Amino acid sequence: MAVSSALPSPPLIAVAATLMLLIVQAQGITRHYDFNVQMANVTRLCATKSMVTVNGECPGPELVAREGDRVVVRVTNNVAHNLTLHWHGVRQVRTGWADGPAYITQCPIQTGQSYVYNFTVDGQRGTLWWHAHISWLRATVYGAIVILPKLGVPYPFPAPHKEVPVVFGEWWTADTEAVISQAMQTGGGPNVSDAFTINGLPGPLYNCSAQDTFKLKVKPGKTYMLRLINAALNDELFFSIANHTLTVVEVDAVYVKQFTVDTLVISPGQTTNVLLAAKPYYPGANFHMSAAPYSTARPGTFANTTVAGILEYENPSSPSTASFVKSLPLLKPSLPQLNDTDFVTNYTTKLRSLASAQYPVAVPRSVDRRFFFTVGLGTLPCPANTTCQGPNGTQMAAAMNNVSFVLPSRALLQSHFTGLSRGVYASDFPVVPLSPFNYTGTPPNNTHVATGTKLLVLPFNTSVELVMQDTSILGAESHPLHLHGFNFFVVGQGFGNYDPVNDPAKFNLVDPVERNTVGVPAGGWVAIRFLADNPGVWFMHCHLEVHTTWGLRMAWLVLDGSLPNQKLLPPPSDLPKC
Ligand code: C2O
Repeated sequence: MAVSSALPSPPLIAVAATLMLLIVQAQGITRHYDFNVQMANVTRLCATKSMVTVNGECPGPELVAREGDRVVVRVTNNVAHNLTLHWHGVRQVRTGWADGPAYITQCPIQTGQSYVYNFTVDGQRGTLWWHAHISWLRATVYGAIVILPKLGVPYPFPAPHKEVPVVFGEWWTADTEAVISQAMQTGGGPNVSDAFTINGLPGPLYNCSAQDTFKLKVKPGKTYMLRLINAALNDELFFSIANHTLTVVEVDAVYVKQFTVDTLVISPGQTTNVLLAAKPYYPGANFHMSAAPYSTARPGTFANTTVAGILEYENPSSPSTASFVKSLPLLKPSLPQLNDTDFVTNYTTKLRSLASAQYPVAVPRSVDRRFFFTVGLGTLPCPANTTCQGPNGTQMAAAMNNVSFVLPSRALLQSHFTGLSRGVYASDFPVVPLSPFNYTGTPPNNTHVATGTKLLVLPFNTSVELVMQDTSILGAESHPLHLHGFNFFVVGQGFGNYDPVNDPAKFNLVDPVERNTVGVPAGGWVAIRFLADNPGVWFMHCHLEVHTTWGLRMAWLVLDGSLPNQKLLPPPSDLPKC
């Protein structure tokens, strides 16, 4: 210690404290949450309903963690519905038992029971969210997950003055479980929602709702980071703030190359962090922050309404008075046409990974297995002695590679782990369509799909390329596909039928965006790559809840690797039973 002997040596206790801090920084801390699932009466649009909530709130509690932290959430079910919670976008490396989709990674938590979700947040920072993952309960059971960077690690952009979650939801005056169960009985489409919400509030553009408006108060000259989350059930949304621009800095808890827009689009399941620079001076006006749907589907199958919140400025000359002054002019943004696919394509192709030394792109450059899945709607025959309200008297259905996925009655992960998979699932999910057709051309005469509980098995560390192709069987439609357990890289997208000869040459392997939910373009395809380095059973589904219900879902089974740290951990002792 020749060097330190020449210097006054720091007191031992300070050295120890610094060391402790470094260890804490490296290992993270444990954050405990109590989520009490309970009924609450909530009034919106002049109607009161009793609904399922976490801790009586909607949106529910915000979960805050730092990258590297352990999160322990005790969920206690005090309602009549059995349910599960999912931590959407959290990678759950080796902890699939805490992922949450009902009948995939766990049986539901029964009334009166509890289950502790225990996982770490590693290698991710930004915004994610949590939601119920059974039937349509996520309509009222959802909330933000805020993942801060490690202590002392700055954002790759100037630190904002304030950070504000902005969670888009969808509101039905009716009980959403009744809405979907009625639709399943009739075979037709479910009733559309009555309103969209921002942080639970529908805002002034709906009847009897002005008192329920989200307001964002800002100071001139300051920058705010909005953590946008689309928790709506069935609608992709455009979002814009009048007379302001939004700088996109992160999606799905991964930083992106910054770009600035007037309007962005966000699909159910996706998150987007944007910087909002307040004007340098008091503008003497209020501004609507509005969201409305993007949809190419038939009218009547989506909710064509607009939610607005209000951006208001603190008046520096009278900062103590209420800032929202009714007499001020109110400016409204103009959103794209509801079927503006060109806008959506233009926006999504701007999303690029940072691809910096500190945040490199881990896109697989070589591929072990290539898969091609069709995604889209179809039909099932109407059961005997019933009338159905689907096309030509059928029942609505949806499928990937023509398999409409049927949820098992026992959880897939446990069936796999215990080796008791017989009668629960089959391992023969088709890797390509069994009967190819012109996917985006004239629809085939037979629109029926097959049903089954089929998994696709991958050895540990397989690098996967998956092309997902929309079909026009019942009309071309965009499908936000969500993969559990992984982030993937969006290496290409296009319209019409995917061309396996010419399209791969155009793939972006330099700075493709990394995310957990991607829109399969209406009448087009998207190509993703991921490394199957997380053993477990991982659900993949359309995040339009009605499509998931109809069967637009499947699951991957990623096998253990040979090293001890490449194996799925054993299940926790309180894992619910079916
Ligand atoms: Cu956001 Cu499988 O879910």
